Amino acid sequence: MKKLKLLVNSKTFTVDCHPFARLLDVLREELKLTGTKEGCGEGECGACSVIMDGKLVNSCLVPALQAHNKKILTVEGLSNKSMSPLQKAFIQCGGAQCGICTPGMLIAAHAMKTRKKNPSKEDIREGLSGNLCRCTGYSQIIESVQKCGGRS
Ligand code: FES
Ligand code: FES
Repeated sequence: MKKLKLLVNSKTFTVDCHPFARLLDVLREELKLTGTKEGCGEGECGACSVIMDGKLVNSCLVPALQAHNKKILTVEGLSNKSMSPLQKAFIQCGGAQCGICTPGMLIAAHAMKTRKKNPSKEDIREGLSGNLCRCTGYSQIIESVQKCGGRS
């Protein structure tokens, strides 16, 4: 076991970590931050998306030890006592259905909106291109992001 220190959602955590553990496992199993989901486990679906040192990553592909001393933002970190405007828009516009993809969509949308203040529909599509949803079709998801300051 190795000692791993992470700054997750502005809180510092130190955990004993198996050398082959994935960041996804540490977040869900050690830190109990189960908002981050596992879909494919192979970097294809985006359900496990988190932001690490400002960059959108698939936490199923990140060896946990690579996240040592890094800043991680998970879906839990998007809300502060109440839901963020983006989370509210997903509910209002029907962007969230079964919810497996939703945390990853929210994180990818947050990352895209941090890069681009007034994203177009195309920017939104591109920002969410690594995230798959099997429930809604994508129009409600894109509409949800647009509701929070996007362009049509
Ligand atoms: S679970 Fe990580 S990309 Fe699908
Ligand atoms: S809401 Fe079900 S997979 Fe997207």
